[in-house]
Formats: sequence, structure tokens, C-alpha cells
Amino acid sequence: MKPLSTLVNSVPASVTAAMMQKGRELAAAGKDVINLAGGEPDFDTPKHIQEAAFAAIRKGDTHYPPSFGSSELLEAIVNKLARENSVTATTDQILVTPGAKWAIYAGLAATLNPGDEVMILDPAWVSYAPMVQLNGGVPVHVGLPAAENFRVSEAILRSHVTEKTKLIMACSPNNPTGRVLQQDEIDAIVKIATEFDLYVLSDEIYEHILFDGQVHHSLAAQPGMAERTLIINGFSKAYAMTGWRLGWLAAPKPIAKLARSYQTQSITSAASFTMAAGVAALNGPQECVHEMTAAYARRRTFLLDALDEIPGIESSPIEGAFYLFAKFTHTEKGSLEISQKLLEDGLIASTPGVAFGQAGENHVRFAFATHMTDLEKTVERLAKIVPNL
Ligand SMILES: Cc1ncc(COP(=O)(O)O)c(C=O)c1O
Repeated sequence: MKPLSTLVNSVPASVTAAMMQKGRELAAAGKDVINLAGGEPDFDTPKHIQEAAFAAIRKGDTHYPPSFGSSELLEAIVNKLARENSVTATTDQILVTPGAKWAIYAGLAATLNPGDEVMILDPAWVSYAPMVQLNGGVPVHVGLPAAENFRVSEAILRSHVTEKTKLIMACSPNNPTGRVLQQDEIDAIVKIATEFDLYVLSDEIYEHILFDGQVHHSLAAQPGMAERTLIINGFSKAYAMTGWRLGWLAAPKPIAKLARSYQTQSITSAASFTMAAGVAALNGPQECVHEMTAAYARRRTFLLDALDEIPGIESSPIEGAFYLFAKFTHTEKGSLEISQKLLEDGLIASTPGVAFGQAGENHVRFAFATHMTDLEKTVERLAKIVPNL
């Protein structure tokens, strides 16, 4: 048989998915596994959003929709960007996609040429580097310092720019660290992007999940950034709609044009009736988002307080998103081994920090978008395991 794709073969499988799968297998074998490896809200999609989809199906909205998104959803996204992000866009700058993940993929496909370097600010979401590779780009890992709580600085960005650099990928609030970019960090990204004429992909999917008065600022709203920023956003996290597969890309017109063309020749569109749900989510009442965030805030406080009592584990402050990125301070073990031990000895499925790049080593990510009872059990089990790691 002839050899299969070298490109696809070069991409590692997702560690998060592998840990979730291990957790599922143990659960299927009757074990009391706590699955904190994934990244999905435990809430069901709010009722008014569900109803909008049912109504759309009953109305016959079951045919191919416009490839780039229904006109109602494109309008709703444009209005949302103006209202919440101070970003001015027109509907032809938007591409509705099946999940934010495809928005990233289409955005990269529209922007990169083979060999272009993409700066990834590590620790970074596990899928960024593989997506860059699959689009012919070269991921350049910019390891942010754990000792400085993974702060972005102009110096560290500057030291990774080469003639081949094309794009910087940023994510705030951040998965996995829970960091929210502060104004000086935003300024550093803007400075480097404008000085070296780089594009910036700004993943803002956790923008509504903020704690302790943190504020989200879209990179696209910064001076000189509108023409070079690709905003990634979607419904999975804020509206608990992971299974609907609905997201979007908002980009400068030339990029949006290519991303749209790419979509027509690949997955065609997101599912028709999900778009009506998206309109209901963006234009409808936002109490559901506030209520879910308030629940995450309670779980966050519980975890931070409880972990404070356990020697050998230190949490980074969680400013946004629903992840606790904990450092294991009393062990020589690497994060992969720690995660495995937590699963084997404590039946806690987590994600090893190294999955998010070398800068995440010695850390483990726990998703806390799960029931409080699970978190209580997690703390009890950690208290027994961590001192003996
Ligand atoms: C940082 C980040 N971006 C994008 C996504 C993709 O979200 P979606 O479900 O809309 O594809 C995720 C999902 O975990 C994520 O954590």
C-alpha cells in the first residue's frame, strides 16, 4: 500500500480527548471517575435558545442555509461586536462556522502560506499548534514564564519574531491558564503586530466568563488592529452549546472572503436550524450567561480556598474561563505522570500541563464547569494523593 498523509501523520492526537476517553472507559467499568479533563459547561442550553431551534425546524428551516450564515445571524453578530466589543464590522466580514474550532481552521487556511511561522503563546489550547501545521504553517512556541503568572511581554514576543512570522495566536480569557490579558499585555501584542505587520488571531470564546471585576477587551478594537485581527468566537462556552457546533470568524474583508470560499469548498455551512438558536442567544436575554458565570464563580472560590489548604499544589489566580491550572510543587514527576497518577489513584481525569506546551510543565488543568459535589470529591481525593506524589 502507498504511504498515507505525512502531514496528518505529523499531528499528535489531542491529549485532552485521550484523557476524557480514559475517564469514560473507567466510568463505563463502574468506577466513580470525576471527569475534569474536558472543557464543557455542565449546564443544558437555555430553554429559549432550544425553543428557537425547534421553531426553526418546524418552520421548515431544514434545507441548506446560506454558506456563510443566515442574514439574521450575520446581523446579530455584527450588532454584538459593536455593542459588546466596540468592533465595527459589516456582514461580509463574518463567517458562521460549525464551532469556533472551524472558524480558527478557516481563518488560518485563509491567512497562511507554507512555511509561515505562527507564534503560539504557551501554555495554549491543545489544538492551536496542530491546526497551524495542518494549514502548512510552522508553530513557534512562545513559552510564557510561569513565575510571572504567564504574562505576555513585548520582549518575549520580540525575541520570537523572524522574517517568516505571519501571525500571533492569542486567547483571552485563556484556556488553560485562566489569565485575562491586561492592558500592558494587549499593548505589547499591538506594538509587535503593527511594527512587524503581523496578523493576530484573537480567540475570545471565553469572553463572558470573567471573575473579580476582570474586563475583556477585544484585540480588534485596539488602534491599528482592525485590519489585521481575526476574531474567533462562538456559542459553546457562554451559552452552553458545545454540541450544537456553532461559532464564527470576524475578519478583515480580504481574509473573510478567502475563509468563505474555503468553507463553500469544504463543510459548506453550519447546520441551518442552529443559526436560529444563535440569533436567540445573541439577541435574547443574557441572564442565563450571568447565572452560569455566577455558578462558575462559586465553584472557583470553593476550589481556590480548598486547594490553599493542601500542601504541594498551588493554583494560579483564575481571572476568567473555567479552568484551574495548578502547579505541583512537591514532586519531581512530570505533568503527564501526575495526571496519570491522579486518574489511577484518585479517579480524577485531568489534563497534563505539558499538553499545552512545555511552558505548562509541572501544572495540571482541571475544568471546573462541573457539579459542586464532584469538586468536593476532587478536593478530598487530592488531599490524600498530593502529599504522597
Ligand atoms: C480556547 C478555545 N477556543 C476554541 C474552542 C472551540 O470551541 P467550539 O466548541 O466552538 O469549537 C475551545 C474549546 O474547547 C477552546 O477552549
